[in-house]
Amino acid sequence: MTEPAYPVDEVRDDLIPLADYLDPEFAALEARNLWPKVWQQACRLEEIEEIGQFVVYEILTESIIVVRTGEGEADVAAMHNVCPHRGTLLVEGTGHVREFLCPFHGWRFGLDGANIEVVDPADWGKCLKPGETDLKHIQVGMWGGWVWINLDPDCQPLMEFLEPMASRCALHEFDKLRLAWYKTTTVEANWKTTMEAFMEFYHVQTTHRQMLTYTRDYSTSRGMGRHGWMSYEFATGLPLGRSERLDPQEVGDFREYLYEYGKQFKHDLASMQTERGYQAIQKLRELPADTPPEDVLAKWGENIYTAAIESGAGWPEGITPEYMAESGFDWAVFPNTVFLHPAVESVLWYRFRPHPDDFEKTIMDTYSLERFAPGEQPAWEHQVFARPEDGDYPLIYQQDFVNIPRVQKGMRSSGFAAARTNPMQERAIANFHRRLREFLIDPHAGDNLMAEDRLPPPGERNGDLDPTIDRVVEFSRKPGPQ
Ligand code: FES
Ligand SMILES: [Fe+2]
Repeated sequence: MTEPAYPVDEVRDDLIPLADYLDPEFAALEARNLWPKVWQQACRLEEIEEIGQFVVYEILTESIIVVRTGEGEADVAAMHNVCPHRGTLLVEGTGHVREFLCPFHGWRFGLDGANIEVVDPADWGKCLKPGETDLKHIQVGMWGGWVWINLDPDCQPLMEFLEPMASRCALHEFDKLRLAWYKTTTVEANWKTTMEAFMEFYHVQTTHRQMLTYTRDYSTSRGMGRHGWMSYEFATGLPLGRSERLDPQEVGDFREYLYEYGKQFKHDLASMQTERGYQAIQKLRELPADTPPEDVLAKWGENIYTAAIESGAGWPEGITPEYMAESGFDWAVFPNTVFLHPAVESVLWYRFRPHPDDFEKTIMDTYSLERFAPGEQPAWEHQVFARPEDGDYPLIYQQDFVNIPRVQKGMRSSGFAAARTNPMQERAIANFHRRLREFLIDPHAGDNLMAEDRLPPPGERNGDLDPTIDRVVEFSRKPGPQ
């Protein structure tokens, strides 16, 4: 076998070759070997609640109709959005139809893709074989309230592909979440550069410095098979507390401290906290001012839970601190999905896709999902902005959007040889690049890769890494100026 163009062992925990971000050949390889063969999150099930409701999912040059075909939970089809007559795209965006009508010459198709009408069929004589005039189905699956698609007929079953993430998030009931808001924008960076800004918490201490008053930000990160897991070493939920990076300070009235924390999340992130959760913090004022912090926290949890139950929204059963610790704070689902789920009833979910015309641009979707009481889901609309600054993204996203294009541009500098990822806090990023390169060589090589990427014991941490970066230049394969 010939040497792969991008060998897996070029990626180390502390080093990522720049080809992955800058080389058009690498992007072309992804277009050939990744996107046509990997499971992808196509849409939220609630976007296709009614029979005949559809969403067009686009990935590079592929356009796929995801449509509800019946009332059963699994009655969802995914088909190429192309007319078998002359290749016209049948539908765009989202919509609700009884059947699909090609706008060019009027061929018609049922919701299941079966051809209903070829206009003037006798003209073809016996040329058109049965099935040739139907829409072509692709693999489809459902998990977590999402529809997932795969263009590869021989792909691994979805539930296997999602492990070990799916098991570690099994109690969260993501399928009961609904959209609070949904925004899409285009970011001036490769899809991986953009995604990786949301795959680590190492940047919080500088980029989101305002959070340190309420966030013990030192994070931990692992590869979990193909996927990535991020959390905080001591946390079974939110890493709430004053960061050790700041001067120590007496907190005083812990109720007020929590109130300010909740306010910051509400204004700066507008996600990972329901309105009920925010109200639950206000209710803590009913406690005496000198209530010890542990008791305030316990009461807060109790208030959130009680409010969820009383409202009718409900709360998942069986969640324990041990489960939360295993489940972590944040997952990166291979290849292009990231979600943050420590608040259980409000989850921030991202999807990153390469722009079809420019591999140094990302189409980035942000979904804020919540567990609403019946009838309380607000009307939502899918907002699409040409540039991040055109959307009213809250402060934390704005801070990230400033960095991302600067990283993409900076990596092109002749003074930069490779990305030097933090082997502890950015470990999931290195794992992702190894798994990506592996997938590009053989999409099934990681199918049985379930094992957790175990961290070396503290005394030996990263002692095995080559302290020199002599091979960095060799690894970098930076393409010349374009
Ligand atoms: S291209 Fe669709 S009917 Fe002609
Ligand atoms: Fe960030």
